[in-house]
Amino acid sequence: MQITVKAASHEYPVVTGKNLLGRLPEFFDCPTGCKVAVITDDNVAPLYLEKVLSGLPDNACSKTVPHGEASKNWALAGELLEWLADEKMSRSDVVVALGGGVVGDLAGFVASVYMRGIDYVQVPTTLLAAIDSSVGGKTAVDLPAGKNMAGRIYAPRAVVFDTDTLSTLPKTEWKCGLGEAVKYGVLAGGEIFDILEKGVAEENLERLIFSCVDYKRAVVERDENEKGDRRLLNLGHTVGHAIETESALGFPHGVCVAMGIYVIARACVTHGILPAADYKRITAVLQKYGFPECPYSVRSVLPRLAHDKKLTEGTLKTVLVRGIGDCFIKEMTLDELENFVL
Ligand SMILES: NC(=O)c1ccc[n+]([C@@H]2O[C@H](COP(=O)([O-])OP(=O)(O)OC[C@H]3O[C@@H](n4cnc5c(N)ncnc54)[C@H](O)[C@@H]3O)[C@@H](O)[C@H]2O)c1
Ligand SMILES: [Zn+2]
Repeated sequence: MQITVKAASHEYPVVTGKNLLGRLPEFFDCPTGCKVAVITDDNVAPLYLEKVLSGLPDNACSKTVPHGEASKNWALAGELLEWLADEKMSRSDVVVALGGGVVGDLAGFVASVYMRGIDYVQVPTTLLAAIDSSVGGKTAVDLPAGKNMAGRIYAPRAVVFDTDTLSTLPKTEWKCGLGEAVKYGVLAGGEIFDILEKGVAEENLERLIFSCVDYKRAVVERDENEKGDRRLLNLGHTVGHAIETESALGFPHGVCVAMGIYVIARACVTHGILPAADYKRITAVLQKYGFPECPYSVRSVLPRLAHDKKLTEGTLKTVLVRGIGDCFIKEMTLDELENFVL
């Protein structure tokens, strides 16, 4: 399956299918002599690096970073830049990001600044990266002041998702991906929500991924730089982020997003914005995939957002739900949000 994303700088394909890892050069421009530098992490490398390298020109090189969010840091980005220079990577060479969202964000960021930007290809290996982070061109590293504080919007040359990689994905990571899939289901309704209601299974997984990517494609084509509509993709994330901070990363991101959707949906039904029937279907889907409700009082976690980088001039752009497939952005102060969700 293939989707073409029209970024402001260029169009790129998002290819999804089986057995693609060893065929990467089919999907991007790599003329004779072009050198490919693969960046991956230490969980993914033993599983898939050899396969990827087997399909690349002989001069390809690779670098493995430790897995986990802590690798999205400035110092490691610097080391990777020095490594690209040591490998004599030129402007016409290509970086491949092989892994989940951490590797994708980090390698994408490095590619975006090396020699003022060289091409990179996203090769996602988690459900979350396949349906969310690999598409749309957001790249970043974290700063002590906050997550994703240094980054660029820099579109990849291609996204190649080999669905075979999901066979080794740990359960928790599946759940994180499903949390984001529920986000897409509530935003888009239609086929995504239907699949989630029926139950995600082998036979509909590719369709689910395709529809999520296609929804994201449409959003980023309308608003690549997140001045408006792209903020819809933050559904569940404002409250979710506060829960994430409160739990000191005890709850994984996708689970916090799901909890955030619970909180927002309940507030919307309470205020008469969301019909009860839709609320029931949303909570039924969240329960179906075993997402817990937020264990904290929302009043206690929301002040965590006081230093959120998304809090501009005292207001937050919160995504509210009018119905399944009908969400909108409302600007609220932190106080207003606290009153709204209680
Ligand atoms: N750029 C964007 O638009 C965007 C959107 C959403 C999230 N993100 C970022 O994505 C990151 C989270 O991504 P993630 O959830 O993919 O986490 P991740 O990259 O940390 O991967 C999760 C874990 O699974 C392991 N793993 C990856 N693929 C595997 C496989 N096929 N088999 C076995 N293990 C595998 C990884 O080594 C890691 O330990 C966060 O940093 C977040 O900020 C970015
Ligand atoms: Zn998210």
